[in-house]
Amino acid sequence: MKDIVIFGAPGAGKGTQSDFIVEHYGLNHVSTGDLLRKEIADGTELGRRIKGIMDAGQLVSDDIVVEMMDKAIAADTQGMLFDGFPRTVAQAETLDRLLAAHGRALSCMVQLEVPEEELMRRLLERATIQGRADDNEATIANRLAEYRAKTLPVAEYYAAQGKQRLIDGLGTVEEIAARIRQAIG
Ligand code: AP5
Ligand code: MG
Repeated sequence: MKDIVIFGAPGAGKGTQSDFIVEHYGLNHVSTGDLLRKEIADGTELGRRIKGIMDAGQLVSDDIVVEMMDKAIAADTQGMLFDGFPRTVAQAETLDRLLAAHGRALSCMVQLEVPEEELMRRLLERATIQGRADDNEATIANRLAEYRAKTLPVAEYYAAQGKQRLIDGLGTVEEIAARIRQAIG
């Protein structure tokens, strides 16, 4: 069974490439961003607590996402693709523990590398199509700052374990999907 992390900055193409990966390897796709946005859309108590944080482009607390992932892993029997998780070193350490508790271990982490000007361009373009609440210039800048400060150290965590697979995230979605398949093997 494979468990894989897809990693990268906001707009790097994690969600887009996840569709190809789950189809090719038969994995369960779990996006923490999608789960959190659903809480907001459903108007749950948790959704009300996190809306301001997400609208500001900040990370929600580790406890909240870890609880969600604990449930998702316990319910999974086919292997998972983690999109947008882990985003802090503490989350990465917890993911290792959660998988180990089920006799599993992460296969690899696929990191999409895209320059910041291109990330901004993609997200501002998406804003005109989808209207996601956090796709505006000020919030994107905050999301990128959070990524640099809290999430990039996660890449070193996986590099130290020999699990980091660096992928050039520029090109057509098909070209990038082919690079990812080659890196996962
Ligand atoms: P999340 O939903 O994970 O958003 P994000 O990381 O900011 O990234 P995006 O979903 O915007 O981008 P993506 O990499 O998926 O790219 P996509 O494929 O969509 O998180 C949102 C918020 O939730 C966080 O800010 C935080 O508050 C909270 N959160 C989530 N997880 C958390 C966690 N673990 N801990 C704490 N807080 C958490 O592509 C982007 C655009 O580019 C699309 O329009 C797409 O069509 C286009 N595109 C894709 N590929 C290409 C290409 N090759 N060429 C040109 N355009 C392309
Ligand atoms: Mg996404």
